[in-house]
Amino acid sequence: MSKSYRLIAIEGEGIGPEVVDASLKIIQYVASLEGFDLNVNYAMLGEVAFNKLGSPFPKETQQLCENADGILFGAVTGSGLLELRQHFDFFINLRPIRIIDSLVEKSSLKSDKVLGLDILIVRELVSGIYFGSSGRGEDYQGIYGYHTMKYYDWEIRRIARVALELAQRRQGLLTVVHKENALPHLPWSHLVLEEAKNFPNVVVQSMLVDNLAMQLVLNPTRFDVIVAGNLFGDILSDIGGALMGSVGLLTSASFNAQGFGLYEAVHGTAPDIVGKGIANPLGTLGSAILCLEQWGEYNAAKRIIQAQEKILAQGYRTADLNPHGAEILVNTEELVQLFLQELGEEKRACN
Ligand code: NAI
Ligand code: MG
Repeated sequence: MSKSYRLIAIEGEGIGPEVVDASLKIIQYVASLEGFDLNVNYAMLGEVAFNKLGSPFPKETQQLCENADGILFGAVTGSGLLELRQHFDFFINLRPIRIIDSLVEKSSLKSDKVLGLDILIVRELVSGIYFGSSGRGEDYQGIYGYHTMKYYDWEIRRIARVALELAQRRQGLLTVVHKENALPHLPWSHLVLEEAKNFPNVVVQSMLVDNLAMQLVLNPTRFDVIVAGNLFGDILSDIGGALMGSVGLLTSASFNAQGFGLYEAVHGTAPDIVGKGIANPLGTLGSAILCLEQWGEYNAAKRIIQAQEKILAQGYRTADLNPHGAEILVNTEELVQLFLQELGEEKRACN
């Protein structure tokens, strides 16, 4: 009997539907090549869900996701996503920043600064300032607003253990991001170092977030795995877009302790290009690849990665990558067709 997976597609808003549909076409095709069933159900989140079902994270979506093997997500503008992440306790957010060889000159940095770049940002995703108590009020000084950055030590320790484990499997270097000079009650370095006692092969270095932002631009190849809280991880990972050449290339996967995952690009709804059919789907496709790998479908993942390498090496580029010279401008659908063609040819070559 062939294997079968249930994937929930949450397209969201803006370019969300464009990049999710593009990725689905490609992974559905690969599923047929590899001989497993991929059953896709659509669910709503955010504004669309609020308008149709009265809540940004409705019960219907919750139930669909609870019975699934993974969630492929586009983007939303407002609420819904934080609730989804929290509901499933997706505390592990992995954000790889890896240079694609044929796109090395698309980086905002000179090629020699980014050649071989391979960073993994491990961001805590369900706590910190995005989930702390917040509000607006008024006192004798005027109207004010506040958000609270609160972390239980166990929340820092559990994301630290994930990051240490991953560093152990990679180059063995873990950088802890913190701001302990101004926020001494959030002792990230101390807690990560304590957890690191069980990982003798991992070297841990701690770095203030402001310095780390600068180092990511000055000398990004010095990093391997970076562990960060929710806010710092969110902000720092966008630097990856400049390093790689476009925010449209950045992928991410979020997991809970059971290994159930939410797969989404790092970018947002991109209101300036919505509806034009020119969005770069590779960020979302990269997330879908992470999903296939999480399921153990390594051959399927490899097929897509190889097809992508070939297509990019041939010079095909979406508009965000500013094609010039011999490079060929393609829109989202044309890029999808190139993938299907390449994957089909690979299949014929194998037969
Ligand atoms: P954004 O990532 O949507 O766009 C930033 C710039 O990058 C824009 O110029 C956009 O055209 C370009 N861009 C982004 N993705 C692209 C792609 N796949 N292909 C080609 N170009 C791409 O960030 P922005 O403008 O700050 O946010 C827009 C909305 O998205 C906001 O409402 C924000 O809250 C939301 N957002 C949602 C996220 C999510 O659902 N996970 C994440 C980040 C932002
Ligand atoms: Mg962000």
